[in-house]
Amino acid sequence: MTSNLEAQLLALRHQGEQAIAAADTLERLEELRVSYLGKKGELGALLRSMGQLSAEERPVIGAIANTVKESLQTSLDQQRTALEAAQIRTQLEAETLDVTMPGIYSPQGRIHPLNGIIDRALDIFVGMGYTVAQGPEMETDYYNFEALNTPPDHPARDMQDTFYLPDGNLLRTHTSSVQIRYMEREEPPIRVVAPGRVYRRDNVDATHSAVFHQIELLAIDEGLTFTDLKGTIKVFLQAIFGDLPIRFRASYFPFTEPSAEVDLQWNGRWLEVMGCGMVDPNVLKSVGYDPEIYTGFAAGFGVERFAMVLHQIDDIRRLYASDLRFLQQF
Ligand code: DAH
Repeated sequence: MTSNLEAQLLALRHQGEQAIAAADTLERLEELRVSYLGKKGELGALLRSMGQLSAEERPVIGAIANTVKESLQTSLDQQRTALEAAQIRTQLEAETLDVTMPGIYSPQGRIHPLNGIIDRALDIFVGMGYTVAQGPEMETDYYNFEALNTPPDHPARDMQDTFYLPDGNLLRTHTSSVQIRYMEREEPPIRVVAPGRVYRRDNVDATHSAVFHQIELLAIDEGLTFTDLKGTIKVFLQAIFGDLPIRFRASYFPFTEPSAEVDLQWNGRWLEVMGCGMVDPNVLKSVGYDPEIYTGFAAGFGVERFAMVLHQIDDIRRLYASDLRFLQQF
């Protein structure tokens, strides 16, 4: 009886160890553990038959059964470690990164130079307490000319010929129309800055475009003087161009009196960069403001002009061509 059980135990160990060594997955290994060492496993079945042994035989066979159990457990542990290591190796091989592969090209967008100037200008004026406003690009004759002290027979209209719509409306020639619209719906004090597209009936060449961009400035209050205008323009131009010489040159606009053009000394030459002046009393009257109480100043400039001076661009058409070789320089 003893030797029979002993032989069965040793055979079980031999068979088990071979099966464990051959197990090629962790699932298979778990199946083997259950079938050999589990509650209803083969070792348990053999041990249950020990009840038939004599009192002297039992401890001897018990000791053998323990070594069989331990060695099967050791084999299971070793095989588990080996299988887990193999699994990690396979995973690492599958996930290997080939650093010599070409990368994925993801082109980066940029701010267009015109939008860059608009953003900077608005930032500067908002910093001085101005509000940003906009108006329509299709305008009535009233907002674009009449209310700005430019009646139908006024000679200044010749310089701002534009595109007329069949209904008599027009494409605005300047952002100055926003001055009137804003004053009509607000009360002084006013500090407003208005960017937008404007239109002229111009032939396109290196310095002219039928569509371009302007930024308009308007301040209305009690006691504003030409000094306030000069100070505001100076702070603005220096923020954009740096500390360059600036001069105010007497000029004429129907909607301002006195009027001036502002020149900037750039590379040894005086460049005209904007128009400005004290708001004409007739303009204030057209929106129902009393010119005896309120005064104000206004200014307007072309965004393309600023971009061309700042970035030394030789042809205005480059700003509209969407040529990446040009745009990627900004
Ligand atoms: N509207 C003018 C133009 O398009 C520019 C301008 C000049 C605007 C003087 C103003 C101003 O507000 O006061 O040429």
